[in-house]
Amino acid sequence: MPIAKVNGVEVEFEPGMTVLQVAERAGEEIPRFCYHERLSIAGNCRMCLVEVKPGPPKPQASCALPAAEGQEIFTDTPMVKKAREGVMEFLLINHPLDCPICDQGGECDLQDQAMGYGRDGSRYAENKRAVEEKNMGPTIKTFMTRCIQCTRCVRFVTEVAGVPDIGMISRGEDAEITTYLEKAVDSELSGNVNDLCPVGALTHRPWQYHYRPWELKKTETIDVMDALGSNI
Ligand code: SF4
Ligand code: FES
Repeated sequence: MPIAKVNGVEVEFEPGMTVLQVAERAGEEIPRFCYHERLSIAGNCRMCLVEVKPGPPKPQASCALPAAEGQEIFTDTPMVKKAREGVMEFLLINHPLDCPICDQGGECDLQDQAMGYGRDGSRYAENKRAVEEKNMGPTIKTFMTRCIQCTRCVRFVTEVAGVPDIGMISRGEDAEITTYLEKAVDSELSGNVNDLCPVGALTHRPWQYHYRPWELKKTETIDVMDALGSNI
């Protein structure tokens, strides 16, 4: 098997793995928003930046970069730290400070990664943009102003649920996630996007404002509504 070095430590990996996967194999945590192991790679949030040698002297998105024999991967250099802080600052430019009233609060990747990898302040004093809510059906509550355009929801409904009902329209500051035709997502898997969304843009409508994540208990059980008797 090919070998690469992650922060000076040699790691064996299987051909076809990405730099992010190799770094994880070495026990390094790589922050990410758009990457999900069960979905196709989009490479659009840029949070997973690392330094790779040989390669151009700039940070590279590790989720979309194939690992190679003899590669040296650095996840903790000043360049990587500065790059992550920059990405975080850009992501937060238009993200509202909704955390006190947001249902995702306490289980939010953006909250956690802003704490772990972000700057302590913002240099942005201009107005933030606002995005209209969308009708995505009875299980999905949308707060699209919070969306960071990672496109996980789009890839899930297209690739896993098989109903290409959600997509991104417009460009730049006007880019937004929406349902085509303003109709509910037509899939029994639609509620899964609420868990997949790394921020509070898509949350569970049925128990909106009912609890905080830290008030819940985890219980292994069987889904009685599912003819396969799936474990949940
Ligand atoms: S709604 Fe959530 S999952 Fe969909 S693109 Fe926005 S942040 Fe990503
Ligand atoms: S996780 Fe790599 S670009 Fe989003």
